Amino acid sequence: MSLQFPKDFLWGGAVAANQLEGAYDIDGKGWSTQDVMPNGIKTPPTEVPTEDNMKLIGIDFYHRYKEDVKLFAEMGFKVFRTSIAWSRIFPKGDELEPNEKGLQFYDDLFDECHKYGIEPLVTISHYETPLHLAREYDGWVNRKLIGFYERYVRTIFTRYKSKVKYWLTFNEINSILELPFMSGGINTPREKLSKQDLYQAIHHEFVASALAVKIGHETNPDFKIGCMVLSMPIYPMTPHPNDVIKTMESDHKNTFFADVHARGYYPGYMKRFFKENGITIHFEPGDEEILKHTVDFISFSYYMSICETADPKLQIRGEGNMIGGVANPYLEASDWGWQIDPQGLRYILNAFYDRYQKPLFIVENGLGAMDQLVTNEKGEKTVEDDYRINYIKEHLIQVAEAIEDGVDLMGYTTWGCIDLVSASNAELKKRYGFIYVDRHDDGSGTLERYRKKSFYWYKDVISTNGNSLFE
Ligand code: BG6
Repeated sequence: MSLQFPKDFLWGGAVAANQLEGAYDIDGKGWSTQDVMPNGIKTPPTEVPTEDNMKLIGIDFYHRYKEDVKLFAEMGFKVFRTSIAWSRIFPKGDELEPNEKGLQFYDDLFDECHKYGIEPLVTISHYETPLHLAREYDGWVNRKLIGFYERYVRTIFTRYKSKVKYWLTFNEINSILELPFMSGGINTPREKLSKQDLYQAIHHEFVASALAVKIGHETNPDFKIGCMVLSMPIYPMTPHPNDVIKTMESDHKNTFFADVHARGYYPGYMKRFFKENGITIHFEPGDEEILKHTVDFISFSYYMSICETADPKLQIRGEGNMIGGVANPYLEASDWGWQIDPQGLRYILNAFYDRYQKPLFIVENGLGAMDQLVTNEKGEKTVEDDYRINYIKEHLIQVAEAIEDGVDLMGYTTWGCIDLVSASNAELKKRYGFIYVDRHDDGSGTLERYRKKSFYWYKDVISTNGNSLFE
């Protein structure tokens, strides 16, 4: 049997504004939550941006995007996922008028993509809430954020309606459960944040997301608007029914997010959860109707799977993408302890598709590793990153299996197609790219770009529409 990718499959790469643009206070940009997170999620935010924050300069994509987009084009990208930094468009978040220079930057960036036939895929909010909205309003806990987001969304939808077709409303929206500041701009420290406020904030995001779908379809009926969730298959640690039920309950914490986006209403298991935890979600008149504007597709990140168990003795937590969980004894892990499970990707693709029957889009997957820049026999600087090639190859083979299973998959964008600053640790030594960027955590480096071995490999994958994976 030969496995195949659909002929119009959207191959590409993904990044987020705050992790690569730099230029954190240039051309009218306001501060975002990321500008005060010099250590990612490892330490509490600082009062003001500090020089040790690698994101302030990032990889200077703001000034070098033309060179970078050209490299993406050389690999044959069909799609490029990036985000718009909300605080470039509305520096504080609550202004009435947008910042023209911020809008112009993305006009130029999208034009540059189209020059090479690359379709932009845009995340509207990727862990970069304007800081003012966090500090003055407590982020999404405050219902006013819906109005601010709506103004922002109307502005960018109108401005880019002929340049951007694919939109994602919130990056990894379920990560707010663990990371209220980074994900939801919630200033109240996590340990002081009540479940009531947390779930009310989530409700506000749901309403804002559904409003974006509604407004987007009114702005341009061709828009395809998706939600974006952090996916992490959860396996029961043993076949003991207690483990299976615990797994189901843990899973519900996450499926809640895609369920509301794809079905347009709150699932029964969450109503039970709210009752048992004394939570009452305040719905304003009209909210229920707005939620019925469901997404066109489900997009997600996939890096790893985890296990769940009801047995406290077995609850040994491993490291993991934002959420983490109980480690699986059968899997190897990356240098950062994220367990590698290509089959988990086939599993989650089937799980999503069985549940929603909506098109899917893998918008993040990849390996963060410590790369070594070397000079090859041709005298070129490169990275011999066979480990990255193997990782992506194994995952893509499972993607092809899922397509053969009948999953409707729109595309695949690898995370950090060019080296950028990591989200969880805010470090540059954790590299994901096909393109090496000469910049280091001590602030040194020329910012020069170099093609890694995986650059040529991915180019081949794209030009053969995936067939080279099976040679
Ligand atoms: C996802 C985020 O959680 O994982 C990205 O959407 C992030 O912003 C990526 O960079 C990888 O995580 P990290 O911490 O290795 O950068």
